[in-house]
Amino acid sequence: MMMNAENVLFQSFEIIGRDFSRAGSVSTKVKEILQEIGIDSTVIRRAAIAAYEAEMNVVMYANRGELALTITPKKIHFKVEDKGPGIEDIEMAMQEGYSTATEEMREMGFGAGMGLPNIKKNADKFEISSIPGSGTKLDITLHLNQAEKK
Ligand SMILES: Nc1ncnc2c1ncn2[C@@H]1O[C@H](COP(=O)(O)OP(=O)(O)OP(=O)(O)O)[C@@H](O)[C@H]1O
Ligand SMILES: [Mg+2]
Repeated sequence: MMMNAENVLFQSFEIIGRDFSRAGSVSTKVKEILQEIGIDSTVIRRAAIAAYEAEMNVVMYANRGELALTITPKKIHFKVEDKGPGIEDIEMAMQEGYSTATEEMREMGFGAGMGLPNIKKNADKFEISSIPGSGTKLDITLHLNQAEKK
């Protein structure tokens, strides 16, 4: 983990597609870092959910990806970028209950179609962009100054 002079922490993590044995390890590590530096537990809970859902989508749908965590005194930011099939219709993917999860994934308990809606719900700011045939990128921000909003 790196910290610069402005008290900004940065760490990036690799996520391997279809590796269910390691699935969840990145968001677990993120949660540990947030706990170590004493972030408010409510914010940790929301951040951990967002990181987990983003990580699982890379595991389930992409070939590989990266989660880049930045923590400043004001915010937590995740950039989750993957190489994979991308998302043809983002509006549809954002709808609660929409899922293209396979039977195998559903048997493991995934595929409720709630991951992306939950990321949006738990973030203060959420942006998603995708290039079909290339990959998907998420920008997820949570504010640390509760007075600012949410
Ligand atoms: N990184 C991604 N690359 C390609 N497609 C994606 C990606 N993330 C999401 N999708 C598509 O968007 C759909 C909705 O994603 P969402 O996370 O909301 O639900 P889910 O992963 O299907 O189920 P759940 O998250 O509840 O286990 C997915 O089924 C998939 O078709
Ligand atoms: Mg999902």
